[in-house]
Amino acid sequence: MKILLTGGAGFIGSHTCVELCQAGHEAVIVDNYVNSSPEAVRRVEKIVRHPVVCYEADVRDAAAMNRIFDEHSFDAVIHFAGLKAVGESVAQPLRYYRNNLDSTLTLMEVMQAHGVKRIVFSSSATVYGNQPVVPYREDMPSLGCTNPYGWTKFMIEKILEGQAAADPEWSVVLLRYFNPIGAHASGLIGEDPSGIPNNLMPYIAKVAVGELDHLNVFGNDYPTKDGTGVRDYIHVVDLARGHVLACGYAAEHTGSEIINLGTGVGYSVLDLVHTFDRVNNVHIPYVIAPRRAGDIAENYADPSKALALLGWKAEKNLEDMCRDTYHFQTLNPKGYHGSAGV
Ligand code: NAD
Ligand code: WQD
Repeated sequence: MKILLTGGAGFIGSHTCVELCQAGHEAVIVDNYVNSSPEAVRRVEKIVRHPVVCYEADVRDAAAMNRIFDEHSFDAVIHFAGLKAVGESVAQPLRYYRNNLDSTLTLMEVMQAHGVKRIVFSSSATVYGNQPVVPYREDMPSLGCTNPYGWTKFMIEKILEGQAAADPEWSVVLLRYFNPIGAHASGLIGEDPSGIPNNLMPYIAKVAVGELDHLNVFGNDYPTKDGTGVRDYIHVVDLARGHVLACGYAAEHTGSEIINLGTGVGYSVLDLVHTFDRVNNVHIPYVIAPRRAGDIAENYADPSKALALLGWKAEKNLEDMCRDTYHFQTLNPKGYHGSAGV
């Protein structure tokens, strides 16, 4: 299949591009590099050993998107493009709604106009809200979101579901990711956040290479096994494989499906810190800090629907996630910029 990846230069998009190419598909990227670098695409080309067509454009730019769709005959689109920082979305709600919703509406209109009616979308476990029970299952009604970023995911799910309901030729797969971490085993591509990371694993990685002094553990008084927050961390390469299978599913079905991509296992903040220390033979200093506003105690996925519909399950464990993250970070201590290019 020939597949367009919006936001394909980003963390999850770049890993998915590799998995798609290695599964024999043709991937085309469109990205405006608002949170990524063309260097990521060069690294992808190095891994897959062939060029990847990549357009620098904003998905909200209908003229640019129409030109791309005129030049290629796509079988499906994977829509990664979006702004994703929760705290930033609280500070800049209009920017988040404008970027994430406009890009989706423009993309859907261009797809419709070109008769491309299969889309796999990057949704998030954040859409569930704070559920009283774990694991999270796709048939649980959303309890609402706690920030504008989450609401954009919620609204985009509704937009895509609405289109699938209106036009029976559409196939929509809404992938709800849990907490993607890790990096490609080559160390060539990984997560490269700008500034001080908000998320746990990128923060730990920067402490590990001495760029940050210590980790603040946000609360140790949650009702969890060691008092720290529990999440379902999923290796980005497992997640990327899930997208390859989702494209295959979209090619054979119409309608819309919500599918969790998680391991089904919850680990605490301290599980992550201790595993990172052990597998990488390093020491991550940490201090217990107050709870972070908006955090929940625990979530993890019920991943059984992904197995039933896609034949997907996570294969990599927490040790792989910690090892591969550290490998990428040590080879690229300053991310894609300023590194030796491996
Ligand atoms: P990322 O920021 O690395 O990738 C997103 C990419 O989209 C970036 O390359 C960015 O430059 C691009 N982009 C943003 N707006 C654009 C626009 N208007 N036009 C063109 N390109 C644009 O993030 P990621 O971690 O790879 O996440 C990919 C998707 O998955 C996002 O939609 C994100 O919300 C979603 N998601 C991520 C996580 C996570 O923890 N990483 C969890 C759940 C869902
Ligand atoms: C994980 C755990 C923190 C940083 C976020 C988004 C979610 C999804 C995935 C996009 C929590 C603790 C963190 C730190 C810490 N993204 N922590 N010290 O909050 O589960 O999910 O990313 O859709 O929408 O909300 O991920 O990595 O920020 O936090 O103790 O410096 O680590 O309290 O328990 P989160 P996270």
